[in-house]
Amino acid sequence: MKAGEEKNYRCPETGSELTLEIDCQDQDNVLAGWLTSACGRSYAINNGIADLTFPPVLHPTEQKSREFYNQRAEIYDKFLHLTFETFWEDETVTRNKMIDTLEIEPHHRVLEVSCGSGRDSALLAQRLDATGKLYLQDISLPMLEKCVERMDGVNVPIDYSLSNGSYLPFPDGYFDAVYHFGGLGEFGDIKRALKEFARVTKIGGRVLVGDESMPPWLRGTRFAQILTATNPQFNAPLPLQEMPVEAREVRLRWVIGGVFYLIDFVVGDGEPTGNFNYEIPGPRGGTHMTRVDGQLEGVKPETKTLALEAMQKSGKSMHAWLDDVVKAAALRDLGK
Ligand SMILES: C[S@@+](CC[C@H](N)C(=O)[O-])C[C@H]1O[C@@H](n2cnc3c(N)ncnc32)[C@H](O)[C@@H]1O
Repeated sequence: MKAGEEKNYRCPETGSELTLEIDCQDQDNVLAGWLTSACGRSYAINNGIADLTFPPVLHPTEQKSREFYNQRAEIYDKFLHLTFETFWEDETVTRNKMIDTLEIEPHHRVLEVSCGSGRDSALLAQRLDATGKLYLQDISLPMLEKCVERMDGVNVPIDYSLSNGSYLPFPDGYFDAVYHFGGLGEFGDIKRALKEFARVTKIGGRVLVGDESMPPWLRGTRFAQILTATNPQFNAPLPLQEMPVEAREVRLRWVIGGVFYLIDFVVGDGEPTGNFNYEIPGPRGGTHMTRVDGQLEGVKPETKTLALEAMQKSGKSMHAWLDDVVKAAALRDLGK
């Protein structure tokens, strides 16, 4: 981590700014030190990498995942190419097509969540120039170290952090694009993670996530039987229920033999909104808003307040008061 970089990170627990204390540095590279949050929590920097993992005791699924990839790091790259060869695909071509979705421009600030040994990171870096910046994070230090090795000599600003994808140590709206491939099924809280991906992306920025999940029409086929015998993760559900409300222009595709889903979306500001205030024609009347906020069918909120006052003064229940008022008004208007 470079001195000054601490201003771009946040405490993953509270979101507060971090102050840097340097124990050892080589020029402007901080090799060892501490990042301390306003809430008093401290995060160590060792060998130039900040450990911003939160919570201190990980969700059991994340702890299991960390331990698995800590063990796996040494041989991960030896076998990973088989994922693509199984479907006669060229890994670089396929990964580049996935990255195309993010429409990265050379000056963009890009986050890769779960960079692993950096197989996508190297391709993401090719989309940037010296004005852009690539942030790489993973929950497994040995995987991240493999990534650091792979990225040696890459001439684009890069910063690495050991952290939990479900508690990202970055400010709101910080990135133009967030990329994640291959780890989501091993996260403890997928809904929280996707919300975090949207939180750290600026409004109008893009998020892409992908992982194993066989489409429904292939489940139960011979093709599925063969693949799931080796990798049961193809049976994982699609994380559609877990998508954040900020997701707009959502697209869903399957890639790599059609058994890995890719979901990409543009980040919006909170829930979607609409043109809810025009008068709706027809006997029911009102607007979309008065039908919800009026609570009395189709009335404005201020009318509802008056009605409540009148009902209380009358000593009747709302049902009785409404029935009397509406009946009297209808009889009057009909001249009966
Ligand atoms: C199958 S590897 C994919 C690595 C890389 N994206 C690729 O495509 O080769 C899954 C990665 O997810 C990481 N991971 C698992 N749970 C995580 C979490 N909660 N936060 C961040 N990374 C996590 C693992 O450490 C591992 O590096």
